[in-house]
Amino acid sequence: MARKNLIVGNWKMNSNHLEAIQMLQKLHYRLDPNDYDRVDVGVAPPFTSLRSVQTVIEADHMSIQLAAQNTHFEEKGAFTGEVAPSMLAKLSVHFVIVGHSERRQIFGETDDWVNRKAKAVFAHGMTPIVCVGETLEEREAGSAFDRVGSQIRLSLTGLSAEQIGSAVVAYEPIWAIGTGRTADPADAQEMIEFIRAQLSQQWGGTADDTRILYGGSVNPGNIGAIMAKKDIDGGLVGGASLDPDTFASVVRYWI
Ligand code: 13P
Repeated sequence: MARKNLIVGNWKMNSNHLEAIQMLQKLHYRLDPNDYDRVDVGVAPPFTSLRSVQTVIEADHMSIQLAAQNTHFEEKGAFTGEVAPSMLAKLSVHFVIVGHSERRQIFGETDDWVNRKAKAVFAHGMTPIVCVGETLEEREAGSAFDRVGSQIRLSLTGLSAEQIGSAVVAYEPIWAIGTGRTADPADAQEMIEFIRAQLSQQWGGTADDTRILYGGSVNPGNIGAIMAKKDIDGGLVGGASLDPDTFASVVRYWI
């Protein structure tokens, strides 16, 4: 099955709900209906903007897909400050980012938690975007492939072959996030090819369907070279997704 390209804007902790609506509307205005034939487009606003963004997407029949930046894996209960997957599903959330490196590094999320989150996302009919990526020290020490391989194994364990085929994986080398330092497209391709090989070793041919994105200082100037690589199916975009003009240029990478 041919993999459709996917570009998701991760707005991180930026935008209140009014700003989020404006960003969404500007983005929609700048994209051509035909663009969506070529690439699926998603935005991941903060939790407090999900409802507003969902309402505008539905009212204006936009093809933009709604994504959440995180979820808890429990159904409900005494977990102050957390949001349950069922709450996201009720907002017609399509994708949920799990295991972003900022969650792993700043908030101490483990591979086991990421795994539980990925399973919970599937259990509620949504699609996880499972993030993996090595630190600069690991890259320099030559252990990047070991690290990412183990993140893939532990974060995805217990998922079915069918789930692996529909999951999204994002390779985001930590040293490239928010630093302006993009991975060389050839290095990104090498790691993403390795990730696909790991998936197919464990889950078989269904790994050919898994969309694998690159993330880390993606911008309109480098997206073309990244998308030209055969195993890279799209991008997870931080800073460059905050300005609708810039993000639209990333989405329309072939122009
Ligand atoms: P930047 O594009 O700002 O480097 O962020 C990447 C990222 O973390 C997307 O999830």
